[in-house]
Amino acid sequence: MRSPNPRQARAEGGLRHLARESDMGVVSCPPAGLQGSPPGHNALPMSTHAAPAPHDHDRLLIIDFGSQVTQLIARRLRELKVYCEIHPYQKVTDAFLDDFAPKAVIFSGGPDSVTRDGSPRPPASVYARGLPILGICYGQQVMMQDLGGKVEAGEHATAEFGRAYVTPAGESADFLKGWFNDGGREQVWMSHGDHVSEIAPGFAVYGTSPGAPFAITADLARRFFAVQFHPEVHHTPNGAKLYENFVKMAGFKGDWTMGAYREEAIARIREQVGDARVICGLSGGVDSSVAAVLIHEAIGDQLTCVFVDHGLLRQDEAEQVVTMFRDHYNMPLIHAEESERFLSALEGVSDPEVKRKTIGKLFIDVFQHYADGIDGAAFLAQGTLYPDVIESVSFSGGPSVTIKSHHNVGGLPEKMGLKLVEPLRELFKDEVRALGRELGLPDSFIGRHPFPGPGLAIRCPGEITREKLDILRKADAVFIDQIRRHGLYDEIWQAFVAILPVKTVGVMGDGRTYDFACALRAVTSVDGMTADYYPFSHDFLGETATRIINEVKGINRVTYDITSKPPGTIEWE
Ligand code: XMP
Repeated sequence: MRSPNPRQARAEGGLRHLARESDMGVVSCPPAGLQGSPPGHNALPMSTHAAPAPHDHDRLLIIDFGSQVTQLIARRLRELKVYCEIHPYQKVTDAFLDDFAPKAVIFSGGPDSVTRDGSPRPPASVYARGLPILGICYGQQVMMQDLGGKVEAGEHATAEFGRAYVTPAGESADFLKGWFNDGGREQVWMSHGDHVSEIAPGFAVYGTSPGAPFAITADLARRFFAVQFHPEVHHTPNGAKLYENFVKMAGFKGDWTMGAYREEAIARIREQVGDARVICGLSGGVDSSVAAVLIHEAIGDQLTCVFVDHGLLRQDEAEQVVTMFRDHYNMPLIHAEESERFLSALEGVSDPEVKRKTIGKLFIDVFQHYADGIDGAAFLAQGTLYPDVIESVSFSGGPSVTIKSHHNVGGLPEKMGLKLVEPLRELFKDEVRALGRELGLPDSFIGRHPFPGPGLAIRCPGEITREKLDILRKADAVFIDQIRRHGLYDEIWQAFVAILPVKTVGVMGDGRTYDFACALRAVTSVDGMTADYYPFSHDFLGETATRIINEVKGINRVTYDITSKPPGTIEWE
């Protein structure tokens, strides 16, 4: 995992209004009456056909009531090597519980109010199965109300949003091991409108905050725990410890390791694919690389990778990918050198959306052309990750605004009659990296900054020309080299150069120059959804500008883009 970056933490605090931004430490459970949450808002259809789950692991079930940060619960648990799955409450029936056979259950937060008729609930039988249960925020309120306590609807005076401090109350308990050391208080992140006004019979209070007298409650005999705050977010700094205590008490062995995952995934791929052939679109990015290596390990030469070179790659990129996968891993790899086709189609195009759509469509055509030549192909491998699966429906249930048309191979499997192999669909990005390491992929691949499907096209605002692409590639290589030389590569989520569609006047030696200006872009981020610019030192920036202007013919001016996302996006188009 990337090392936490203090600057980033600060920046994320400033972006608090944007919920659902993964590790931002942001919680958005608006008080009752403010959310207008439509029923079925979180239908998550894709999670209903998750890859076959590894049944020999202890499994924890997270019942999702629609919190923006439910995913973070899963991440905290995976960090503890606990296998867990998130399922929307609508799907969790008695039969589902029988089939899933969880060893423990967590109720997530959610935007609704338990005081509303018809608000989301778990099946009543969940309490009668002898399972440890942890309820968080809305999950606490559901648990209290279901078990005979009382919840009052939100009023301004009792609503609590943001940082709060919990102090110990009552007896100490194993559930709170590592908390309240020396009787001290703990910082937590609150986000609730409603509040528990009376705890259910059997429960006792273990922690209170000024706005939440029942901040930590538990019925130790039944192993039911319920907290008003969100232990999964970064702004509850000691929150992971509560999850650790909970899973320990629930008897989890912590056996969800990458070594185990690798073996299981290989067995599942073999079972799914049989003797058929699989095609994999390889971009050289982390996800497709790890998926390809894993599948290759499972089925060997039944896998053929197609690497589409659209002429919009970075310096030496095609060569690196081909060398790594064809020469090092001995994978059957088609290097589809199609730059002419892409660059001619892009001639005269300057609108960003037209660029993206042109590239996306051509990519599919080209990919299909090569795939058609692979006899007996029945499967298409994709590096789909768990966040793609659980975020497949927007929280509001409505269409979200298209900021950019992302390039992918969507639609291809149906068109070609291919079934999907998605061996990473249970993993988070950091787990994919861990799996890549487990599979022996070098760090130069695993730690790579993301690179967008449309490549340099969207780093070249305005019309794309071969000349500009050449200049851009060189400048980009110098910038990345600088970042590596200064040991900054792993601290930065993504760094690149954009060539600007303007020429400016300069003076070099005794002569006038009239060359392109470029912008350096380097950001920190957790998931690419929000980002802040990286705080390079002035010395670094100065040195980099000098190197680019001296080493790259065609650029005579260098700027640094200090826009965060939002309001900017990471790429320039
Ligand atoms: P933006 O520019 O939207 O980018 O802030 C967020 C992250 O997504 C990457 N990106 C893409 N990745 N296909 C991709 O595979 C695309 O079309 C695409 N557009 C942007 C971008 O590089 C950043 O990491």
